[in-house]
Amino acid sequence: MMNGLRYFLATVAFMALASSFVSAYDPSPLQAFCVALDGSKNDVFVNGKFCKNPKLVNADDFFFTGLNIPRNTSNAVGSNVTLINVDMIPGLNTLGISFARIDYAPNGLNPPHTHPRASEILMCAEGTLMVGSVTSNPNNQLFTKILHLGDLFVFPIGLIHFQFNMGETHAVAFSGLGSHNPSLIVMASALFGSDPPISIEVLEKAFQVDKNVIKELLMAQFMGK
Ligand SMILES: *[C@@H]1O[C@H](CO)[C@@H](O)[C@H](O)[C@H]1NC(C)=O
Ligand SMILES: *[C@@H]1O[C@H](CO)[C@@H](O)[C@H](O)[C@H]1NC(C)=O
Repeated sequence: MMNGLRYFLATVAFMALASSFVSAYDPSPLQAFCVALDGSKNDVFVNGKFCKNPKLVNADDFFFTGLNIPRNTSNAVGSNVTLINVDMIPGLNTLGISFARIDYAPNGLNPPHTHPRASEILMCAEGTLMVGSVTSNPNNQLFTKILHLGDLFVFPIGLIHFQFNMGETHAVAFSGLGSHNPSLIVMASALFGSDPPISIEVLEKAFQVDKNVIKELLMAQFMGK
C-alpha cells in the first residue's frame, strides 16, 4: 500500500475511534442562523431545535432584556444563577454560546458543579469572589483566584468549579458559556439529591465515611428541595 493511503486510512480509523470517546459539544452551524421554533411534543430534536423560516425571523429572536435586575439570593446556598440559553433567546439555537448572570449574597456560594458541554469565562462585576476549578484524575489540581471588579476567570469544559462570595456585600458575576445549552450537574444534588436516592452503601464506600454522615447529606439535599 502507498504510504499516503496507509496514513489516510490510519487517520480515519483514529478519528472514528476518538469520536466514539469524546462527549459531544455544540457543532458549527451550517447556516447563518437557525432561530429555534418549538415543535409539537412528539418531535425529536437532534443537536438543537427546528429552525424558524428565516423570512419570519426578526430582531426580537436575538434579544433579551432584564439582566441588569438583581436576583433574589435568599436560599440555602445564597446564590442565584440566571442562565440565558436557547430557551430564553431562540436565536441562540446552534450558535454554541449562552450567557449568565450570577448573584451572590454575602458568603453566598455557587456550589461545585460542572457543565458537560461548555467552557465558561466569568467576569466579576461587583464584590469579591473566590473562584476555583479542579482538574481530572489523578492530579485533581485546584486552580483558584480571588476576583475583583473586572477580573475574569476561565472554567474549562467539564471541570468541577465554584464561586464563593468572600465579601460582606452582595456580589455579581456575568459569564459566557460555549454552548447554546451548556447543561448543569451540581455535585451535591446529583450525588445526595438524586431521585430515587443512590444506595447508602454506595455513597458510604465512595466517600469513606460513616452511614450517619451520608444520611445527613441525603437529608440536607432533601430539605433543600
Ligand atoms: C432567583 O431570583 C428570582 C428573581 O429574583 C426568583 O424568582 C427565583 O426564585 C430565585 N431562584 C432561587 C433558586 O432562589
Ligand atoms: C426573596 O425570597 C425569599 C424566599 O423565597 C422571600 O421570603 C423574599 O420575600 C424574597 N425577597 C424579595 C425582595 O422578593
